[in-house]
Amino acid sequence: MAEDAAKEVENLKVDGEVADVVNPWEVTTSSATGVDYDKLVERFGSSKIDDELIARIEKVTGKPVHHLVRRGIFFSHRDMHTILTLYEQKKPFYLYTGRGPSSTSLHLGHLIPFIFTKWLQETFNVPLVIQLTDDEKFLWKDLSIDEAYRLARENAKDIIALGFDVNKTFIFSDLEYMGQSRAFYRTVCRVQKCVTFNQVKGIFGFGDSDCIGKISFPAIQAAPSFSSSFPEIFNKKADIPCLIPCAIDQDPYFRMTRDVAPRIGGKKPALLHSMFFPALQGAQTKMSASDPNSSIFLTDTNNQIKNKINKYAFSGGGATVEEHKEKGGNCDVDVSYQYLTFFMEDDAKLAEIKKTYTSGELLTGYLKKELIGILQPLVAAHRERRQKITEEEVTQFMTPRKLIYDY
Ligand code: TRP
Repeated sequence: MAEDAAKEVENLKVDGEVADVVNPWEVTTSSATGVDYDKLVERFGSSKIDDELIARIEKVTGKPVHHLVRRGIFFSHRDMHTILTLYEQKKPFYLYTGRGPSSTSLHLGHLIPFIFTKWLQETFNVPLVIQLTDDEKFLWKDLSIDEAYRLARENAKDIIALGFDVNKTFIFSDLEYMGQSRAFYRTVCRVQKCVTFNQVKGIFGFGDSDCIGKISFPAIQAAPSFSSSFPEIFNKKADIPCLIPCAIDQDPYFRMTRDVAPRIGGKKPALLHSMFFPALQGAQTKMSASDPNSSIFLTDTNNQIKNKINKYAFSGGGATVEEHKEKGGNCDVDVSYQYLTFFMEDDAKLAEIKKTYTSGELLTGYLKKELIGILQPLVAAHRERRQKITEEEVTQFMTPRKLIYDY
């Protein structure tokens, strides 16, 4: 981002207060409890996922909603009611999500949208396309084209290791698929024609000194929202609606996409937005792959996991045991508790922990031990599954082809 534009975004004021910074490149807030998500919903013009929507999801799917929704981690949406109506009417839609491959090893935060996407795919039984934006990382980072593509394939292994079904899932690298698919490039061009430089300046803060690759990139992230980009999967149908699970920082891309959709004869994509996965140091910022001590990586050993949590996980507990017993712990800022809400499946146990930590009965050390006990086996199992993924399997997932669905 150009410096001037970055400053402008940083100093954005809403109602006289300095607003949280939330864009695809930066997430920061001055508040220890993290980004004010209610204000974000208002600012972005999305809708909160409320009890009524959750009840409808459960009614339509006939099963309890995923704990990431129940606990408010996926907290915002656009047009989810439309998707549920399509599902009730047995009409088709598909899922689209993605990842910018900037490092070899993913961290825990990267898993969240994919874990939830897998649940969505299993629940609704629909095709899934996963965009690896190696072109984006080439343009934004100090990476060669070859390295960016290599990282895309490496990241695909982590995604595949989560257990996606190859018959229902297409994973693609932009650098590769753009050259393979006339349809994809044509969709990109249609989007490019509808968006002016002025508009992307306003949405993304691009400036006069940003390279033109960046300026046109949003069209490439928009294109997979339209089924016209995948003629093999959708039998050349251009009007199959799409649902995008993503972290809320990606919303600017899809506000732009929804704006152009009717003008290119496509459907506006629906969205499900998640909160950010906090850094070990606290919810002022999200986990970042470029700061190893802020994150737990999927390649970390059991010992590294234990040490990072014990050493860095910000505690909402009292400064001394006496103070903690007297005043209790604060779950709203306690990073170990926050992580438990993402990864502990047992609702009753989580509620008990919240109660006894808040009252001061449970000490921070117990919370950390509980978290370490969940994350060590989870990461170890992932590491093991990932090791077994072969280059052939990656190529299979990344080959443009018809999936098991007929259109
Ligand atoms: N830009 C995203 C990133 O840097 C990657 C991405 C592409 C994506 N398409 C997406 C994320 C759709 C969510 C949904 O991580």
